[in-house]
Amino acid sequence: MSQRVVIIGAGHAGLQAAVSLREEGFSGELVIIDAERDLPYQKPPLSKGFLNNKQTEENLIFRLPHFYEAQQIKLHLGMELTRIDRDKQQVIGQSGEAIAYDYLILATGARNRPLPVAGAQQERVFYLRTLEDARRIKQAMETCLRVAVIGGGFIGLEFAACARELGKEVTLIEAQPNLMNRVIPPVLSEVFRMQHQKMGVEFLLNNQVLEIRPESNDALTIELRGGQQCVADMIVVGIGVMPNIELAQAAGLTCENGIVVNDSLQSTDDPRIFAIGDCAQYFNRFAGRKTRLESVQNATDQAKCVAKTIQGAEPCTFEAIPWFWTYQYDLKLQMAGLSEGYDEYHCRGELGSDKFSLFYYRTGKLIAVDSLNRPTDHLAARKLLQAGVSPSIEQVKNEAFKLNDLLRNE
Ligand code: APR
Repeated sequence: MSQRVVIIGAGHAGLQAAVSLREEGFSGELVIIDAERDLPYQKPPLSKGFLNNKQTEENLIFRLPHFYEAQQIKLHLGMELTRIDRDKQQVIGQSGEAIAYDYLILATGARNRPLPVAGAQQERVFYLRTLEDARRIKQAMETCLRVAVIGGGFIGLEFAACARELGKEVTLIEAQPNLMNRVIPPVLSEVFRMQHQKMGVEFLLNNQVLEIRPESNDALTIELRGGQQCVADMIVVGIGVMPNIELAQAAGLTCENGIVVNDSLQSTDDPRIFAIGDCAQYFNRFAGRKTRLESVQNATDQAKCVAKTIQGAEPCTFEAIPWFWTYQYDLKLQMAGLSEGYDEYHCRGELGSDKFSLFYYRTGKLIAVDSLNRPTDHLAARKLLQAGVSPSIEQVKNEAFKLNDLLRNE
């Protein structure tokens, strides 16, 4: 009898799982369910090219409807699930309709962390995660001049760069002293701060929002802990995300900072259920601990691994090297590996310029490489990290030395 795989979530992870299952030769039924109504789309451009009009909505759509028909992938868009019934192997929708599964893939993603201050819930305070969010922000920017950004992570900074490119007055408030503090060291975040400042962004670093107050003239006043105020016509909040784990939790699946899965991305409580992408927590051998990663690469590579497990004779072990990227103005930062816990780093190129790479080591072993406008280093780094090869400090610093040469004998 034909098997059915149900995928919850039509983001990068969910869609890739369906596509990869077909590529692996899965001939059973494929069903993707998502609460959003838009055809599956790419997320990275939402905080970049889509906002500054370099990309249109059509550019963002992964596949047109005929693709899903041809591949026999059934899309249930605009459908909110309320429950997973593991005993009956069914997912249940809001009006009680049930869809049975042989395998269930949870690709439920993450949602924005709400700003926990008074006044944060009002019309002109925006979050950026979905296409619908981006549409609303884009529309608001048509009439707003003064834009405040809360959070100096990837989303806040990418948005700030777009807003400057559109001629908006931008003030960015960040709780930490350094930008993108979660993922990069101060020496690198300084390059970004200087570029943003050069482009006209005002920073209020090491600062916290206490309250947002609407004024009679439609402006929003942001009260800060230091006693300062910032007045804006609209606010975009990017203070991190939290995984969507509620369906899994209610179904009795172990969740911590994400749905806990084994090396093959199967729930540790139910081998018929997988979790992939931003919602999944797994033991990452590069970090040496359980992690939950938020990246397109992680989502798509995990999806491919699950497709192999479902179709193959043996479970596939997930061990792809993590990598990420951000573009802000002409700065393109590509990150390979996970740098947390490094005890030294060495620079290839001129430190602090707009073109250098940092090679991070822990107890003499290469663990990560951040490359600023040096894509060749990034590609070499991914291969070195995957192969577990650590270049010497001299090799890193000597730009004439080809890092790829170290892989010849691998
Ligand atoms: N006020 C100001 N800043 C804050 C506050 C606050 N109350 N709370 C958190 N921050 C700051 C953090 O210090 C951090 O620098 O917000 C920033 C959030 O950065 P990220 O964790 O990178 O989250 P975000 O930028 O929202 O991106 C969310 O979406 O595109 C993906 O890869 C991206 O994983 C990232 C996710």
